[in-house]
Amino acid sequence: IVFDDSNCGSKIVAKEIADLIREKQSKNKKCVLGLATGSSPIRVYDELVRMHKEEGLSFKNVVTFNLDEYFPMSEDNEQSYHYFMHDHLFNHIDILKENIHIPKGDIDSDKILDFCIDYEKKIKDYGGLDFQLLGIGRTGHIGFNEPGSHSKSRTRLITLDHVTRTDAAFSFLGLDNVPKRAITMGIGTIKEAKRIVLLAWGENKASTIKETIEGEISSHVPATYLQGHNNTTFVLDKGAASLL
Ligand code: GLP
Repeated sequence: IVFDDSNCGSKIVAKEIADLIREKQSKNKKCVLGLATGSSPIRVYDELVRMHKEEGLSFKNVVTFNLDEYFPMSEDNEQSYHYFMHDHLFNHIDILKENIHIPKGDIDSDKILDFCIDYEKKIKDYGGLDFQLLGIGRTGHIGFNEPGSHSKSRTRLITLDHVTRTDAAFSFLGLDNVPKRAITMGIGTIKEAKRIVLLAWGENKASTIKETIEGEISSHVPATYLQGHNNTTFVLDKGAASLL
């Protein structure tokens, strides 16, 4: 779906998420959301916060699993995705603390494997992701599944692509400060979500979006794996859609 601008697109996506939360509430069920970081989802989160404050949308039945986190990274570091999610969403809504899950960037290296296995198990125990929100990196990554990622990959420690680290260099005040690794949900984990919405705004995403939607499915552009998912929508503005 191509919108005139990111504001219109973000509002529609936030409305879909809110409707899903309310539908699950009416059935006394939990709503399991996979959440993303980066600049792309910020207006969706702003709109959800507005709905909480102005319309009384409650998040008490919501369980969240974030896609990824830098490694190593402490939770209180302003560059952490832990900080980002609390700053943009969790601190402003009534979600229960125990329902928030974000990959831990501050665990010992020898505990990562167990952590990742447990993260996958928790998602399964909640019945899987009802809705997965995604952005997309310039390498065609979703989460931090960089080129070369397998279509059946699961939550794991990965090495970040140089392009991805370069894109993050500004906010880290220099490339040397950008972590070289991250923990990310896998492509297999993401593709098991019942519904996926990928957001992309601006012309600098246009060539990646063209490859993702019109290119051959390949590990060179991991987002192309979404072509094989039966309930995915790409929500774009005119800039991101300009090469389609
Ligand atoms: C990071 C995140 C991705 C995100 C991407 C794009 O690499 N791990 O989940 O999609 O950035 O970020 P932005 O939305 O700021 O363009």
